[in-house]
Amino acid sequence: MLTLADWHCIQPAMNNHKPIRKAVFPVAGLGTRFLPATKAIPKELLPIVDRPLIQYAVDEAREAGIEQMIFVTGRGKTAIVEHFDKAFELETTMEERGKDLSVLDPTRATPGDIITVRQQVPLGLGHAIWCARAIVGDEPFAILLPDEMMVGEPGCMAQMVNAYNEVGGNLISVLEVPHDEVSSYGVIDPGESRGALTEVKGLVEKPAVKDAPSNKIVSGRYILQPEVMRTLETQGKGAGGEIQLTDAMARMIGNQPFNAVTFEGRRFDCGSKLGFVEATLGLAMEREDMGEEVRAMARRLLGD
Ligand code: G1P
Repeated sequence: MLTLADWHCIQPAMNNHKPIRKAVFPVAGLGTRFLPATKAIPKELLPIVDRPLIQYAVDEAREAGIEQMIFVTGRGKTAIVEHFDKAFELETTMEERGKDLSVLDPTRATPGDIITVRQQVPLGLGHAIWCARAIVGDEPFAILLPDEMMVGEPGCMAQMVNAYNEVGGNLISVLEVPHDEVSSYGVIDPGESRGALTEVKGLVEKPAVKDAPSNKIVSGRYILQPEVMRTLETQGKGAGGEIQLTDAMARMIGNQPFNAVTFEGRRFDCGSKLGFVEATLGLAMEREDMGEEVRAMARRLLGD
């Protein structure tokens, strides 16, 4: 069994694939499904227990050895950057009062590790990723959609980086959903499988249930080669009238290796209210500091 420390060591040393140093987080969405909560607060800052959603995604990327976080933001999203900034007044006051500052550790970033670009018009996920092209440059990079909360040991991105170290190329994380739910997602046409890896023969964004090539959906984690930026440059509108990342990836298949990694762990769809509540309950129940009480509370609420 590999420890987390091993994962970090393995990444740069194991082979000739360029290491994954940068991750893009599309966080420009309006969060309309969570109104009115998200009128003045970015959806990505809504907390699951005591950490905002974006923190879980950044922690997952850091655990995978990724150093530079690129947020694709929009208007009204500056609080996300504040979250990862030094809060001088807060820290000084806490220090004076003898409070434990380590609760702020996950929010600390080295200057240059958190970078933002603006997506000025909401043209879709593919367009959001393309907005980061100058910062990504000519190297493979990761994408994490913070709405999708992936809980695993190691985390989803660490599992993907591990697979990437073996096979390189382009990787997307997938998981299976009931067939009648596929039209909310990107869906893969699977080829041969080897362990957690499955060849991707095709990709389609939000297909009708009857047209879906499988029930293996794209679950919001990607490792892509920089060529995707050039493909996005010429990508027309797709499902929902938006420039879709899935469509650009589909055009790369055949020219570049493309594999799916079946994620081992649990996924919470925090883009929906139900998924958000499920994540809150699920994580609270597992916490060492409160799990027992939360489970007892849930039993009381159920009248058991
Ligand atoms: C996006 C992607 C889709 C993916 C999904 C995962 O869709 O376009 O391929 O399956 O995230 O949550 P969205 O949820 O933005 O409509």
